Amino acid sequence: MKNVDSMKNLDDILFDDAIEKMLLRARQTAESHLQGFPHYADVETGNWTTTNDGFWTGGFWPGTLWLAGYYSGDTTFWQEAAQWNDSLESRVESDSVFRGFLFYFGSAVGADLAANERAAELAVRAAQSLCSTFRPHTGLMPLGSSAEEAHTVGENETNIDSLSASLVLAWASERTGNPELKRVAIEHALTNADFCVREDGSVCQSASFDSESGKLLRTYTHKGYALDSTWARAQAWAMVGYAYLATKMPEEPRFLCLADRVCRWWMDNVPQDLVAYWDFDAPQEDGTKRDTSATAIAAYAMLKLASVHEDRRSARDYQRLARETVRVLCRDYLTPTADDDQRPVGILTQGCFDHTRGVATENELIWGDYFLLKALGVLTGALPVDRPR
Ligand code: GLY
Repeated sequence: MKNVDSMKNLDDILFDDAIEKMLLRARQTAESHLQGFPHYADVETGNWTTTNDGFWTGGFWPGTLWLAGYYSGDTTFWQEAAQWNDSLESRVESDSVFRGFLFYFGSAVGADLAANERAAELAVRAAQSLCSTFRPHTGLMPLGSSAEEAHTVGENETNIDSLSASLVLAWASERTGNPELKRVAIEHALTNADFCVREDGSVCQSASFDSESGKLLRTYTHKGYALDSTWARAQAWAMVGYAYLATKMPEEPRFLCLADRVCRWWMDNVPQDLVAYWDFDAPQEDGTKRDTSATAIAAYAMLKLASVHEDRRSARDYQRLARETVRVLCRDYLTPTADDDQRPVGILTQGCFDHTRGVATENELIWGDYFLLKALGVLTGALPVDRPR
């Protein structure tokens, strides 16, 4: 008991310190007056590669700032977040299902944490626009013609990353009382589960279907090692998507069941040192890239699931694994990682953005920062677990 207690105390120190470092990093990024949304950064210099329109990743920057303001009480973070949120407005109608990422994490989170009405307005508008792309005969919102970086896009394609659309619809339904948004959020998430979640709980990123009948034609990955492999972020997006929906809609037990299946698979398959390789099927050799962003998403998802799991023993298992995972990320991957580490402070290293194209395979990724900061908030109590978010 004593050992468990002292481990908890050590965690408290490590986690509080990690939050401080990440807030410093966010402050320095804000003060560098970037011309575009931070996307990925060089871990030696800390310099960001940015995107002009926010790509699919831009919402994680205001998301990080909303969290930073909430944890620190420093409202200048929120002023900065509000400006970036405004810059997302031109994306409300873009024909990409991935605008769910932009407007859930960039806007809905700001409405919840900072009571920002403008952020709420954008999240609701994006949800309504996304809802209008729903195709009842296929049961989902397809990728859309401008879906970022997918090599196969359009009306008869989907992938598990698109669960972010269900998140913003579910959130907007609660906000507006419009049941149609919730109905579509549910159907989209369940159809994607039918297409992408395998029997054993592993996740295949992408699927093509007949846009008339809705029949599944093939499964594949956009960004994974092989057509039938388990790309780490596909698994992680499924985990956080279904865990979020399970907490939001306890009356729909299929989400809890799905969240449990995909989280259990992660638990059974993650490497012993708890940090996922970029794809679970990539040959594990010296130099195989990790993906700390998938790992941070997964850790937060398990905390979320633990908060609603009916079986308290499973809840404890998820909570324990999430805590251990966050401990490893903070200790071994968040700069400085050694006494003589001269790199800028507060960088989550070894995120792998796009291995297939060789882009940013060992970098800081803005969504990795967001999810590590969020998991740290839950573990330290800075973000009460029962607060809507
Ligand atoms: N498209 C989402 C991702 O790369 O994780």
